[in-house]
Amino acid sequence: MRTDRHTSATAVAHPNIALIKYWGKRDEQLMVPCADSLSMTLDVLPTTTTVHLAPEAPADSVTLDGSPARGEARQRVVGFLDLLRERAGRAEPAVVDTRNAAPTGAGLASSASGFAALALAGAAAYGLALDRTALSRLARRGSVSAARSLFGGFAICHAGPGSGEAADLGSYAEPVAAPAFDPALVIALVDPGAKAVSSRSAMRRTVDTSPLHRAWAASCAADLAELRAALPRGDLDAVGEIAERNALGMHATMLAARPAVRYLSPATVSVLDGVLRLRADGVPAYATMDAGPNVKVLCHPADAARVADAVRDAAPGCTVLTARRGPGARLRTEAER
Ligand code: DP6
Repeated sequence: MRTDRHTSATAVAHPNIALIKYWGKRDEQLMVPCADSLSMTLDVLPTTTTVHLAPEAPADSVTLDGSPARGEARQRVVGFLDLLRERAGRAEPAVVDTRNAAPTGAGLASSASGFAALALAGAAAYGLALDRTALSRLARRGSVSAARSLFGGFAICHAGPGSGEAADLGSYAEPVAAPAFDPALVIALVDPGAKAVSSRSAMRRTVDTSPLHRAWAASCAADLAELRAALPRGDLDAVGEIAERNALGMHATMLAARPAVRYLSPATVSVLDGVLRLRADGVPAYATMDAGPNVKVLCHPADAARVADAVRDAAPGCTVLTARRGPGARLRTEAER
């Protein structure tokens, strides 16, 4: 459905951290993941994106944190705008302005919050009236993890059945109710540098060459079933154990890729040792890592300060912040803009 009311819209979306990871696509063109994933949306480091249609402009203009986007970053946004234009049956170029609350280069710049905000603002600006499921499916085309940031709290992204159009239709995220579970996530930014290998090419290499990938992807289904039972119970130990083993398994698949993809640094391993010491001291704390060296530690909110101290001791000089469950992506109202 198409509406013509707005030609400019601003959306805010938060990053999410997967407890059951997505690592591998079965359709790169349509951005369809190999397996289901499940995440917690955070209440920190939002992305704010404004999309403004500019009928007179010669081309799209894309600004990231105040500077013109270049190379692949620009190409991914322009490709997404092309998809919006195709869906809306419109041709106007757009001016896209994206701001990340994460300090530039903090190592937590998120394509999840970025494409969730772009999908929401872009659909509104181009007059596409889409429900949350359709917006999630759309955001997935920008970055699979973005499908989950449309929702607050916990969200599952379905891999969906089949191939082609059926796979595209069947792959979207939806919320997972867990009202009793409101953990803290202590984030250790151990290395602010840009990653040597993009997650996109690293996951392609893993799927293509790692003998461990198929086994790990199969284990994700069992992890997911256990996690879905543990979440509504608010069982931090069960959730944490599943999340930690799932993340370590994902990194094992990368280490077995040819050539190996290794995101974990000495500081990562120090923090992981710190997490083990916390557990030995009776503090429930569990680690997860994405396509980079930073570590996120799941714990009870009452233990967050102690966990943050342990992380700082383990990796002196690292930046630490504590997140909780955050909200889903939303459009800013006229009054807020
Ligand atoms: C390790 O969603 O950033 O964070 O779909 O190619 O854009 P693309 O990749 P992206 O990969 C996220 C991988 C992960 C795990 C996860 O968030 O599920």
